Amino acid sequence: MKIKLKDNKVFFENKGLKKEIHPFWLRERVNGDEYIDKITQQRLFDPTQLKENIQINNLNLNDTYLEVKFNDGAYTKLKVKNILKEFSNFNDVKYIDKIKWDSSFKDLNNFNFEENLFEKKKMYDALINFYKYGFVMFKKVPTKNNFIVNFANSIGSVRRTNFGEFFDVKSKPNPNDLAYTSLPLAPHTDNPYRNPVPCIQMLHCIENEVKGGFSTLVDGYTVTEKLKKDFPSFYKVLTEVKVRFQFIDQSVILEDWAEMIQLDENKKFKQVRFSPRLDFVPLIEKKKLELYYLARKKLSELYNSENFKIRFKLMPGDLLMMDNHRLLHGRTSYNANDGNRYLQGCYIDYDSTEGKLRYLAKKYELELND
Ligand SMILES: [Fe+2]
Repeated sequence: MKIKLKDNKVFFENKGLKKEIHPFWLRERVNGDEYIDKITQQRLFDPTQLKENIQINNLNLNDTYLEVKFNDGAYTKLKVKNILKEFSNFNDVKYIDKIKWDSSFKDLNNFNFEENLFEKKKMYDALINFYKYGFVMFKKVPTKNNFIVNFANSIGSVRRTNFGEFFDVKSKPNPNDLAYTSLPLAPHTDNPYRNPVPCIQMLHCIENEVKGGFSTLVDGYTVTEKLKKDFPSFYKVLTEVKVRFQFIDQSVILEDWAEMIQLDENKKFKQVRFSPRLDFVPLIEKKKLELYYLARKKLSELYNSENFKIRFKLMPGDLLMMDNHRLLHGRTSYNANDGNRYLQGCYIDYDSTEGKLRYLAKKYELELND
């Protein structure tokens, strides 16, 4: 990638392709003290108030800087490196490559909690792991005074729901959700009925004295890729049909329509939703519905297969942070008479982890896609 000049025009050259950079695009990036607030990096001017016919009067380029003088009198010295960055996928959280995993995955991405963790390079490494594998495990996290809220708010902000700022996962009488029983929980994603669906779930183990009650995780991305390869017609129908997810609580009825496997604008994996007690398929044509039911059955079979599932026991102090748009989680049954099993959970959204990661990358001068 290179910047080139010709006849008072700036060109961006990449892999033999040469494109002119619009003068207005450069004018918007004018960065002297009178144009940009030094601390916030926010503009002190409103680009919508500028004249449309912005032209370049004068240009100068060396290895480090591009100097531009515009016809409205503005002058700027832009770092070539920063201009090139805007044309690349580099240093963008979205482009951290996902690594598929299945039941053979042994490394649980453990990071010990320590003083001031959220400002350390270790936190950066943990978050990179989270984006690669869809989860990361913190050990020895303090268990007193609902520390999970503190933890979540040190990365970003807790996403409060009608379950509260955080929720307790332990067996209780008259539960409003199966999570609050000692029954096994098959792999599922949380809250598919919300809009938006909580992005990240944290589960913090406070006590675990029971014999069973193992936690399980499945990589929805791995399973989606498997389905796409081996059962393309199932993959197609599950990425096309939107179903209604519903949750009825005492004072609220939550509903959202979405595909079980949602793709992004480039037809790539975006999100899975799976919670077979809460989904309602619309009354579509019988033949398509038949295919849909077969596809959902196969998907469930894969999610529940021992080939894809990892299983581990959360111990007091363990805090599991998982991507609720990518992974499915569950637990094996336990006997509530064995003793206490007590987890606390909460949600945060992607802006928290992405924001923290960009901040730490800048602090330690690291490139996210190295
Ligand atoms: Fe759950």
